[in-house]
Amino acid sequence: MTARRPLIAGNWKMNGLRADGLKLVEGLVAHLRSGDQAFDMLVCPPTTLVAEVAAAATGSTLLVGGQDCHAKEKGAHTGDTSAWMLKDVGASCVIVGHSERRQDHAESNAVVKAKAGAAHAAGLIAIVCIGETLDQRDRGEALSVVTSQLLESLPEGATPENTVVAYEPVWAIGTGKVATPDDVAEVHAEIRKQAREKMGDDAARLRILYGGSVKPDNAKELLALTDVDGALVGGASLKVEDFWAIAQGC
Ligand code: G3P
Repeated sequence: MTARRPLIAGNWKMNGLRADGLKLVEGLVAHLRSGDQAFDMLVCPPTTLVAEVAAAATGSTLLVGGQDCHAKEKGAHTGDTSAWMLKDVGASCVIVGHSERRQDHAESNAVVKAKAGAAHAAGLIAIVCIGETLDQRDRGEALSVVTSQLLESLPEGATPENTVVAYEPVWAIGTGKVATPDDVAEVHAEIRKQAREKMGDDAARLRILYGGSVKPDNAKELLALTDVDGALVGGASLKVEDFWAIAQGC
């Protein structure tokens, strides 16, 4: 069996002023310094805090990432941030294709693919999010939706080193509803199978995260599933002790 190092990633979304973010990072860094960990830990603060959080994490193993990037390197794109800009201020990763971006900003798979390609070109790891809505699940389309999102969102040149996939069923995000372990196991196994189309045998090394109402009390069970290689955590990543407790499920 291929050993994949779990990744516990926190997506702060549009939460956190400077003082909140720095306090959170300080707490996580202190935990990480307490000993060797069997997982990688990443925080993705709002863009306003990426530079400062990255500076605060310097010298620790805490990884810092963005929540989105533009597909281009620079230019007339008011309000956007490029992958190169994130890299420049200390980010090593960026989330692309989160369902909130897909919904709120009408991002298609093609856009997500271009953003992931930009992340790679800038030297960032792209965390590519996919996941079905409740209607799609109820219609029995979960696997086909996730498969097409995956195959259409992964850029050429995606490898287990520069790409992480996050399965986030839309109906489980921020709702307290968690997919059952059987459902998660089924979808993750399918994602790994389909990833072979893009990566061949290397897909065995691809990290696939689960996201959607991950909390300290359900993390261990989810993280124990064969093809679950970590978690992408929203709400519970905003509290040091909750986020750290989730990581202890690895
Ligand atoms: O990206 C993380 C996410 O969408 C899950 O959010 O609050 O359900 O953990 P939450």
